[in-house]
Formats: sequence, C-alpha cells, structure tokens
Amino acid sequence: MFWWENEFLQVKAGRLFPAGRDAAAIAGGHGTPLFIYGSERIRANFRRLASGAGPSPGREIRICYALKANAHPGILSLLKNEGAWIDAVSPGEVQAAVRAGFPPGRILFTGTSCGTSDFEPLLRRPGLTINLDALEQFPLLKAARDRIAPGRRVRMSVRWNPGLGRGFNPKVITAGARSANGTPVKFGIEPKDVPGLFRRARAAGFDPVGIHQHLGSGWVRDDYPAVLEAVDRIVGLARRLEDEGFPLEFVDFGGGFGARYARSQKPFPVERYLRTLLRRLDEAGIKAPALAVEPGKYLVADAGLVLLRVEYLKRGFGNLFACVNAGTFNTVPRPAIYDTARHEIINATRIDGRPKRKMTIAGHLCETGDVFGIDVRIPEPRPGDLLAVLNAGAYARSMASTIRDRSRRKSSSEILSAAGRNPGGRFPAVRRGPGSLSGPPPVHQRNGMNLFVLFM
Ligand SMILES: Cc1ncc(COP(=O)(O)O)c(C=O)c1O
Repeated sequence: MFWWENEFLQVKAGRLFPAGRDAAAIAGGHGTPLFIYGSERIRANFRRLASGAGPSPGREIRICYALKANAHPGILSLLKNEGAWIDAVSPGEVQAAVRAGFPPGRILFTGTSCGTSDFEPLLRRPGLTINLDALEQFPLLKAARDRIAPGRRVRMSVRWNPGLGRGFNPKVITAGARSANGTPVKFGIEPKDVPGLFRRARAAGFDPVGIHQHLGSGWVRDDYPAVLEAVDRIVGLARRLEDEGFPLEFVDFGGGFGARYARSQKPFPVERYLRTLLRRLDEAGIKAPALAVEPGKYLVADAGLVLLRVEYLKRGFGNLFACVNAGTFNTVPRPAIYDTARHEIINATRIDGRPKRKMTIAGHLCETGDVFGIDVRIPEPRPGDLLAVLNAGAYARSMASTIRDRSRRKSSSEILSAAGRNPGGRFPAVRRGPGSLSGPPPVHQRNGMNLFVLFM
C-alpha cells in the first residue's frame, strides 16, 4: 500500500483508481488536464474532525469550511449536509455559499481591506456574521449598515492578531507583527484595541458575538506548541471580554491544520488539539457555547487530484524534464507560488514501472517557476503517459488563474465523484454546460471554464 492511499485514491492491479474509477478511463472520456474529487474522503475528513474531540457536553464544535480551499458546488452541498458552517473571505464566496444552500446564519465573513461596497451586499443577508479585521473597518461597516439596514443589530465579531503566527511558508503566516520573511502582517486587530471595539460596537447597536484568530496554514506536528501558545492568548481575551459583560457566542480558533503532502510529514494532531481547545475553554470558565475552527486544506486537499498528460521528455544541461499539457498557475499553483510547497506526483500509467528517474515536471507556461515538482523520482514516463498530481483538492483550482491565456484555449475540467453509488462500475453519463441537473449539485461555469459534476 502506498502512503497516500485513502478512501479516495487506491491502486488496483497496478492502476490508479480515484473514487473507485480507473484514472485512465476517466481521462480517456474527459481529456486532460482533469480534476477529480471524491466525496467519500471529504465526508470522512469532516466526520473525523466533527467527532475527533469526543463528547463535548455544553459546547458546540462548529466546523466552518474555509471555502477558499475549493468552491466546487458539489463539495459545498456535501459539507452543508454534514452540518458545516462557512468561512468566507469575499462577497463572491458568500454568494457561492448561499447558492449552495447555506443560510446566511451559518456564514462567517472575514474580509481584509474591505470597504462599504464589500459590506453592503453582506448586509443584504440578515443573519450573516461580519468578522472585522481592522478597527478602521468599523466606521465603514456602520455607514453601510445605516444606509442598508438602519437600526438592525448586525452580528459581528473581531479577528484579532494574537502577536504570533504559524504556517508552512512565510506567505501564509497570518498573525504576528511580521512574517518569517519580514513582510508586515496585515491581518487582525491589536490586542489592546479589541475591548474598545467591542464597546463601540455595542454602543452603536451592533451585536458583537465572537472573537477569532487565524495564525496561518499548513501546520504539522512541530507547530503544535506554538499554536497552543496562541490558543492560550485568545482564551485569555475571551475571559477578559466575558468579564467585561460581553456574552460571547463563539471563540473561533481559525484553520491551519495541514494535509499530508509527503510521506515524511508528521501530521498535526488534530483530535488532540480539539480536545485541548475544549479543556482550555472549560478551565478558563468561558461561557461561549460554541468553539469554532475553520479548516480548508484538512477537509479537501487529499480528496482531489489532477491528471496531466506527458507530451515528451526533454534533456538538457544534465536535467531531465517530463513536459506536461498544463501549467501550474492554471491548475495547481502552489508549487509555483510557495517555494516550500510540495505535491506528490504519480505516474498513473506505470505506477510500479522501472526505471525510476529523477526529473522535473515542467508545465506549458512561459515561466521558469512553472514546475509541478523538482527532481522527483518517478517511473520514467513515455509520451502520452498520465501523471497524477496529488492533494489537488485544496488551493488548486480555486487559486488557478488564466495566466498566459492558456486555460482559455484549453480548459481543465472538474469532476466530483460519489464513489460507491455505482458498484457495477459502468462509466456514468456526464452532463455539461450551463443549466441545472435534476439532483444537486448544478453544473456551472467559472472563469470561462466548464466545471463538470459527476454522480454515480
Ligand atoms: C481566515 C481564514 N480561515 C481559515 C483558513 C483556512 O486555512 P487552512 O486551509 O490552512 O485550514 C484561511 C486560509 O487562508 C483563512 O484565511
């Protein structure tokens, strides 16, 4: 068994089977590049998290899916049915969540650099919670509220910056004064300003219902002690606010739990973390009835892959390249954007093939950084072989751009597969194009690219 096999992805008789289907057959039917997601794994990831802390009498564990990881409507619909909430960071993400059936009362909006034009559409959705990222946002929110919904007691919360952040790359450390590469961190409100903002908000007729932090993304086991230090800080803030007479509804600890991107990676102990959160809230006597977390990557990363086709092998200056029919920026941009991001790459056509060679998987964009993997060891591909880039369920399609005008001419597709519903294994019909399916979720278009949904 390979370390990456799970409910979504298996090897059977030397062939790659995502969501119980033969990858080669799916690629043959749909072409490449092609995203495939498996609903079973997403459900399993969600349930592991939801039950991970064991019984939590008196305290709801609220799992707010960070929709930025993957906004596929089928995934949203699945997570809605599992009981998730939504963490949205733009009015567009709020709209996607509402379209998927999430009531505004189950959406938390956390926006940075937001103006009245961002707040106004949010205020047209009563029940939504607006999480302020800057003191300076408050007068803008108030002006928008006074215009759109005068007198309404808008639910709001405060994203503070606990003064310490943690993430797999300086570009995704979202708390502290400066990131590890010296970039000033733009997120969150300084601790000293939080109680004053709560007072101002209440005086202005808002309902300040919660506090929030998000330290960064991609935590592994070594991050645990630093993360706990930040947990203690926000619990201390909750204590102070409750002592001042603010009845909190939730304390939101943000997202950040990594997915397993490499065999050597030691996972962040998520279940232990949740138990610790519950205990620390109890020990501090916090009355807030809900504890929130905002996982993105953890829920969907390892439930997705993208299939690429090898065009040819290229040799030069001692380098060996497998040149594929897609660009990182248009499909899986993480390795091109974050120098510490790695994705496992499989030769799906000859999983156990020999010889194995060290090679760089090069995309088709005019950009040196357009490489899916550097010096990875895989069975030597031949032209026409299929490569699978794993962990493409999170921050892949959702971060992809149309850079170099590539994806407009040759679009990639997405399939969400509910494995196990069709044990006979016949390849099901796929509906394409705009319009709605008889059952959820709808096929839709985004960025001019078709998104295909497939249920078995
Ligand atoms: C506010 C907020 N919450 C949650 C997340 C989700 O992070 P992850 O996918 O690492 O869990 C992010 C990611 O950027 C975020 O900005």
